[in-house]
Amino acid sequence: MKRVAILISGGGSNMVRLVESMTGDHPARPVLVLSNEAGAGGLTKAAEMGVPTAVVDHRPFKGDRAAFEAELIRKIDAAEPDILCLAGFMRILTEGFTANYAGRMLNIHPSLLPNYRGLHTHARAIKAGDTEAGCTVHEVTAELDGGPILGQARVPILPDDTPDTLAARVLIQEHRLYPEALRRFASGDRARFDLTAR
Ligand code: GRF
Repeated sequence: MKRVAILISGGGSNMVRLVESMTGDHPARPVLVLSNEAGAGGLTKAAEMGVPTAVVDHRPFKGDRAAFEAELIRKIDAAEPDILCLAGFMRILTEGFTANYAGRMLNIHPSLLPNYRGLHTHARAIKAGDTEAGCTVHEVTAELDGGPILGQARVPILPDDTPDTLAARVLIQEHRLYPEALRRFASGDRARFDLTAR
């Protein structure tokens, strides 16, 4: 049984779906939900689902990324995870951190990578006149939003879409994609797959 730690910064809607998916014959179980924000709504949801939680507030480290990441690693490794899932975790992680979890850390990004790495992905896709958007689960490496792609899900961009309406449509697919990607990854299947938006 693989042990999964999930890192969040906010509401944790992706975390909730991941936790809910790890039941029955699923090869993994959640062992920790950690946030850099003490007030993250996802921490309450995780506690309600019976998952241990932790907080490592980045502010006291005042930009000392190495010190912040050392404390992150200490708190995470106390739960002895086999797999790390970033789910709406909004801090940049350096090589010092990613190297520690090479080959066993996933992230969900709200674009069809390699397009639109970084922030404001939906506004950028709309501005570019794209007709399609989506989300990607990838392995995390030191390269921001750049690791091997595990899975993607696509949605149409509609003529009257705003970043918010597109984000809402993509989020529905994130909630399908991430649990599927984690189940495959935890069972040792790293072949890339594509979910067709319903
Ligand atoms: C989502 O758009 C996700 O793609 C990004 O963070 C946003 C919030 O996710 N990584 P969540 O609701 O906190 O899971």
